[in-house]
Amino acid sequence: MAASTNPDLLAAQARAALDRDAYDYLATGAGQEVTLTENLAGWRLPLRPRVLRDVSTVDTETSLLGTPVAAPLGVAPLGFQRWFHPDGEVATAKGAAASLFVLSMRATTGFDQLTPVAGPWWCQVYRLQDRQLTVETIRQAVAAGARALVLTVDTPYAGEKARPTEPPAGLPVNALLPGQPGWDDPRCWVAADLSLADIGWFREISGLPVVVKGVLRGDDARECLAAGAAAIWVSNHGGRQLDGAVATATALPEVVAAVADRAEVYVDGGVRSGRDVARALALGARAAFLGRPVAWALAAGGVAGVRSLLDGIHAELWEAMALLGCATVDELIPDLVTGLAQ
Ligand code: FNR
Repeated sequence: MAASTNPDLLAAQARAALDRDAYDYLATGAGQEVTLTENLAGWRLPLRPRVLRDVSTVDTETSLLGTPVAAPLGVAPLGFQRWFHPDGEVATAKGAAASLFVLSMRATTGFDQLTPVAGPWWCQVYRLQDRQLTVETIRQAVAAGARALVLTVDTPYAGEKARPTEPPAGLPVNALLPGQPGWDDPRCWVAADLSLADIGWFREISGLPVVVKGVLRGDDARECLAAGAAAIWVSNHGGRQLDGAVATATALPEVVAAVADRAEVYVDGGVRSGRDVARALALGARAAFLGRPVAWALAAGGVAGVRSLLDGIHAELWEAMALLGCATVDELIPDLVTGLAQ
């Protein structure tokens, strides 16, 4: 495995680069970290390659909500990135310019710094307890060129972590507009009464497609679509919310079946290689997103670290497709994953 994608090496490099609190914030899962562990195990699905297929050309290109991308791969929203590297989200966005980048609402970098360096990007949002502040932030995101909103729905309260740490109080959360309250002000806490009706509300105030992130069940996925969601993102917040929640690789087929080609489905949680991305696509995801590995790469190597990680994952995906006998991403089908043949 190339050093640039090896998760254990990346984590070790990040641990060496960061202080204890920052590393723990990044690495830790909720509760006893059952879901954190299960997310990783969930992708260890044996592959069933097809041989004697023409793979003289292999094309990893696809589109996500109409935006063409070189690979079905993106960077999940991660808060507080300037805690991990002085250039924070700017470095990550630069390193991820060839992939889809999702900016966290808990970003420590303002939209004005992000947009000159970013490729296509989406903005993750919560509904904050202060609705007006939510509206203002979204207006800024729209003006700055966000192509979609990613509404995170699995965090009415922050899950208690195995090793709880908190970002430094003074860390500016610039995406919440200069001069506005920071993440630790109650007005910026997440509204616990978020409901299906909010999906339409976010779409209305932004005019953007709304991706619902944090869905683990088919019935929830169907209700989100009926409420106006443009896409469903299968996630358990990287095992940081409800410990014991189903692994995302396990939840994905149920959600894909419920959505039934009516919308794009994405997945994150424990995706650590291009082979995992291939597995996610075989199970019906349109794209897979990476969380912690990107932050480890950022902490250890800044822009170059993030770029090298994503290039490495892309190269692994290309190789996995070639060796599975798939010339295009559409040829990644359930039959290639043992036990889930249609
Ligand atoms: C996150 N995640 C997250 N999600 C979100 O919607 N908004 C956010 O601000 C954050 N912040 C955040 C910080 C850190 C340090 C981590 C590790 C995670 C969750 C993230 O988007 C994604 O769902 C998971 O990280 C995916 O799992 P892996 O790849 O980390 O296993």
